[in-house]
Amino acid sequence: MKIEITVNGKSISRDIPPNRRLLDFLREDLGLKGTKYGCDQGECGACSLILNGKIITSCMILMAQVPLNSVILTIEGEDPILQLIQEKFKEFGAAQCGACTPGMIMAATSLLQLNPNANQDEIEEGLCGVLCRCTGYTKIYEAVKEAQKQL
Ligand code: FES
Ligand code: FES
Repeated sequence: MKIEITVNGKSISRDIPPNRRLLDFLREDLGLKGTKYGCDQGECGACSLILNGKIITSCMILMAQVPLNSVILTIEGEDPILQLIQEKFKEFGAAQCGACTPGMIMAATSLLQLNPNANQDEIEEGLCGVLCRCTGYTKIYEAVKEAQKQL
């Protein structure tokens, strides 16, 4: 099947098998390795990215399910909120092993794009699809709240 999508602001037009997963397409075909493999079952959120304005787990999406002219933002993309959250994660030590970090940053970006004034409960809910085994979440929440102050 032919796909025409925009990934991190770049137009992509390719022939690919319809059963190719979005995660594999990004990592292996486009070389965008920032989006991580984790559980491969839609449970851990490590592979999260923003597809047409919504956070999704890319391990669970086949390319046949990606609508024509879709717009995808990954951790490698350029976006003011994404850049701000990346800075705050660094500043607040919100990443340790890093396995969850791209997915967590994408979830935080999506949350603040849709709800810049999210309260604590909404932040927790917005990030709950991404599992972190290292940080205890406190620093992650702090980083997101600091980012909110600059929006
Ligand atoms: S790798 Fe996709 S949700 Fe875990
Ligand atoms: S930083 Fe290690 S799993 Fe989150």
